Amino acid sequence: MVNTTTAAGLIGVVLLARHGDRTAYYQDPTTYNSTQAYITPLGEQQEFELGNFLRNTYLNPDSPSFIQNISTDVANIDQLTVRADAGGGNVILNSAYALLQGLYPSTQNSAIALANGTTVPPSSWRISILQSLEYWQSPSLTSWMDCEYFQDHLTRLYASSAFINMSTTAAPFLTALKPYLGGVSNNFTNMWNIYDHVNVQYTYNRTYYETLPPTFLQQARYYADWVQRNVFTDSEPIAIRTLLPEIFWALGNMTKTSNKVKMNIQEVDYKPFISLFNVTNATVTDPDIGGIPNYASVIALELSQDSQGQYEVSMKFKNGTEDSQFRQLQMFGNTSITFDSFVEELFGTTINSTNNWCFSCNQTVQRGCSVFNYSNDAFLSGYGTGYRR
Ligand SMILES: *[C@@H]1O[C@H](CO)[C@@H](O)[C@H](O)[C@H]1NC(C)=O
Ligand SMILES: *[C@@H]1O[C@H](CO)[C@@H](O)[C@H](O)[C@H]1NC(C)=O
Ligand SMILES: *[C@@H]1O[C@H](CO)[C@@H](O)[C@H](O)[C@H]1NC(C)=O
Ligand SMILES: *[C@@H]1O[C@H](CO)[C@@H](O)[C@H](O)[C@H]1NC(C)=O
Ligand SMILES: *[C@@H]1O[C@H](CO)[C@@H](O)[C@H](O)[C@H]1NC(C)=O
Ligand SMILES: *[C@@H]1O[C@H](CO)[C@@H](O)[C@H](O)[C@H]1NC(C)=O
Ligand SMILES: *[C@@H]1O[C@H](CO)[C@@H](O)[C@H](O)[C@H]1NC(C)=O
Ligand SMILES: *[C@@H]1O[C@H](CO)[C@@H](O)[C@H](O)[C@H]1NC(C)=O
Ligand SMILES: *[C@@H]1O[C@H](CO)[C@@H](O)[C@H](O)[C@H]1NC(C)=O
Ligand SMILES: *[C@@H]1O[C@H](CO)[C@@H](O)[C@H](O)[C@H]1NC(C)=O
Ligand SMILES: *[C@@H]1O[C@H](CO)[C@@H](O)[C@H](O)[C@H]1NC(C)=O
Ligand SMILES: *[C@@H]1O[C@H](CO)[C@@H](O)[C@H](O)[C@H]1NC(C)=O
Repeated sequence: MVNTTTAAGLIGVVLLARHGDRTAYYQDPTTYNSTQAYITPLGEQQEFELGNFLRNTYLNPDSPSFIQNISTDVANIDQLTVRADAGGGNVILNSAYALLQGLYPSTQNSAIALANGTTVPPSSWRISILQSLEYWQSPSLTSWMDCEYFQDHLTRLYASSAFINMSTTAAPFLTALKPYLGGVSNNFTNMWNIYDHVNVQYTYNRTYYETLPPTFLQQARYYADWVQRNVFTDSEPIAIRTLLPEIFWALGNMTKTSNKVKMNIQEVDYKPFISLFNVTNATVTDPDIGGIPNYASVIALELSQDSQGQYEVSMKFKNGTEDSQFRQLQMFGNTSITFDSFVEELFGTTINSTNNWCFSCNQTVQRGCSVFNYSNDAFLSGYGTGYRR
């Protein structure tokens, strides 16, 4: 493990965790609107293991990444913030529960004692701590849905020469794959659903597992990685833009002496990983992280103080259960940067409110946008460019 922290330990960490293994997850290639997906026992196991890994990394006083003053055995609910997307099936929400169980496993001690002496069992603190965001409550965790400019971006992408070229390259493979796709279209724009079908069948269907030709799973992954990288970067790293403010606020709070929160966990799907690695230039130094992260992957944004007392942020990544340890990444060419420059570099890409999101997506009706008055808005009238696209 790479140790960039001071001997005193970390001040806090913000974690983006991907959900675990799940049932099939269909996404419409023209909107990325999706069907529901449900967590599987394997997915719960992966998230539990992730929680345990985070426990060994951040809650173990012998770890170089130990977080100063964090409660090690019994969860102190004031020290944790956890958010999960509650829409689209239970996969993300239940992943967060499983992660928390691995982070603070159930023991006789893990019940929480309230001020009035009543004891709350572990399962109920886990439920009470989790902030679940429904699709209609806020675009924060599902910012691409019903975002008109994101859909424009997809249309442009599918018409681009790089995309058409790549689809030509993939065509012989997609023809050979056709018998293994059931009713799923083998159109290159459908590459996400193609890979997901192959991956889910390969995991759960023995006949499929035994008959799928060697390398077909890897080839499908390769093309799916390419398409998703282009969908969630380019002019529209939308998936991270609405999460960055939460990250700034959480880290900023941790720099204050009055702060209690030491671990902020955002349970998400794969999209913010791709967008974040792009906007932080992490893929410049590590080009191989540009694809879809595996289930139960995690990004850590660790906050520490250097010897001069400056707050610094460092980014690490673990690609699901395939990696046993964190990998140190670089942001803008550095293994750690000051908190101020972290905010400064990324501020221009953020969307920090629903109102801001409505404008940034040209959405005036859905997702709470109808309450705002657009009548005087130059951008929507077609002659201004108030917000970055
Ligand atoms: C940890 O606790 C000590 C003693 O109470 C305090 O001096 C220090 O500021 C705390 N550190 C953090 C990061 O909370
Ligand atoms: C996308 O899904 C949401 C929630 O299920 C729904 O309200 C919305 O109408 C859908 N949008 C499109 C363009 O299908
Ligand atoms: C203690 O507080 C909890 C939560 O507010 C409440 O549910 C419980 O009834 C209280 N117990 C007593 C003995 O007052
Ligand atoms: C098209 O694909 C070929 C081979 O895959 C590659 O050599 C070429 O540079 C690509 N051209 C464009 C415009 O992407
Ligand atoms: C592939 O899908 C795109 C949109 O998703 C569509 O525009 C295109 O016509 C489809 N191509 C074929 C050959 O069906
Ligand atoms: C399992 O895979 C086989 C071979 O591709 C297929 O014929 C069958 O329909 C699949 N079963 C299920 C339950 O999807
Ligand atoms: C971010 O994505 C865009 C579009 O795919 C690409 O042109 C750019 O090089 C990427 N940036 C990095 C640092 O990889
Ligand atoms: C930051 O602290 C303020 C004040 O305590 C609180 O209202 C807010 O929810 C915190 N934000 C995050 C992301 O922790
Ligand atoms: C994670 O590993 C898989 C291979 O198992 C690879 O295809 C993918 O690109 C990796 N993702 C990242 C973000 O490194
Ligand atoms: C990020 O990478 C791009 C190349 O993709 C480069 O032009 C830019 O200067 C880099 N930004 C910083 C702040 O290092
Ligand atoms: C939100 O973003 C706007 C610009 O897009 C900025 O003026 C404002 O200060 C931001 N608010 C916060 C709390 O970061
Ligand atoms: C934004 O949406 C309105 C209709 O709701 C449309 O008239 C306008 O052209 C759109 N603006 C852009 C820049 O696409």
